[in-house]
Amino acid sequence: MAVGETAGRLASAREGQQWLGSLLYRSEATRPPDEAALDALLLQARARNRALGVTGMLLFDGRQFLQLLEGPPDAVEAVWKSIRQDPRHHDIRILGQTVLPARLCAGWDMQFFAHAAGPFHDRLARGFGRAELGAEAAQAACLARDGAPERIAASLADLVARGHARAALVAHVLEPAARLLGDAWLRDEIGEFDLALALGMLQQAAHALYHAAVPLRRPAQAHHRVLLATAPGETHLTGLCFLARLFDEAGWETDVAFPVRNSELVAGLLAARPDAVDIALSDALPRAEALQSLRETVRCCREAWPDDSLVISVGGRLFAERRASAEDCGADHGRTSVLETPEVLARLVERHRLTCACGSLPRPLRH
Ligand SMILES: Cc1cc2nc3c(=O)[nH]c(=O)nc-3n(C[C@H](O)[C@H](O)[C@H](O)COP(=O)(O)O)c2cc1C
Repeated sequence: MAVGETAGRLASAREGQQWLGSLLYRSEATRPPDEAALDALLLQARARNRALGVTGMLLFDGRQFLQLLEGPPDAVEAVWKSIRQDPRHHDIRILGQTVLPARLCAGWDMQFFAHAAGPFHDRLARGFGRAELGAEAAQAACLARDGAPERIAASLADLVARGHARAALVAHVLEPAARLLGDAWLRDEIGEFDLALALGMLQQAAHALYHAAVPLRRPAQAHHRVLLATAPGETHLTGLCFLARLFDEAGWETDVAFPVRNSELVAGLLAARPDAVDIALSDALPRAEALQSLRETVRCCREAWPDDSLVISVGGRLFAERRASAEDCGADHGRTSVLETPEVLARLVERHRLTCACGSLPRPLRH
């Protein structure tokens, strides 16, 4: 993929002054579409989405659809008006509707994932606390599984009213909930589609948590810039979505990327030129097998960077459970939670700047 194309996959959190609308829904196919019918649907959807500036993601498990639409609010509304009248599906249920500071699916006029074994499976291969809060995390996981993000949001709003910090709630309720859902998948209690759907519910709850509390204003000038990327090929976006909220609140300029290969991530880095990059593995699944390729990813990023100034952070369940550390993959920081990540990375960025300005200083201590 060319640099220009990769740059197109990066979403600036600052699309002018406009906030983006997003809508997540699920539905059931009226009758199982064959591959030709799905291709026709996607062709039609992508052409219109591209024309309207709508991006998103469509999941299909052979029976149900799960779709995320994002873009200028009027455009999302226009597309949604057509979709909800479309006879090819029924039992349509809105799972979340919110405004976003940045696109989560930039560059995807409609990325398609099929999670069913069978004729569509190869597309998937190509595609893409604290004790007191423990009960809340378990409840959030159940509500996410049952498709009730508004109930998770209501319970989080209640905790905020009782004095809990939003970032702490993400760290001690939503992140453990993602791991609980991962456990359910590992025990074969839920399918891959249900896991993806439930993780989407947690993302919606995080958006609602911040949308309710943070005024829609932008800092006059961001001091730091971060690229939040999924590890190449990683399909779970939860950690990245949580982090986007925290970095935005902390006043960072935030870009996001969903690279499929290391070369795409490197091209994206060179295009965005951030102070720091966070590379996220799944928040739900351990992904122990991904450690070696993550090490290679970090090496590629270091090699491509002209000096020592780039701060590289890695995260995901693998690090949250301390089964791996930053040192294991050559990163500067291995986050065990999203909590305080913007603060830690800001400190590391300042140290690296100092190191680069005074070449004689030793490389900063690994955090
Ligand atoms: C599950 C599903 C998802 C769809 N997603 C989109 C989409 O993202 N964008 C889009 O323009 N049309 C999408 N469509 C097709 C629309 O429903 C509609 O047929 C198309 O936009 C043409 O609109 P019109 O009939 O109002 O001209 C989707 C249809 C289905 C069944």
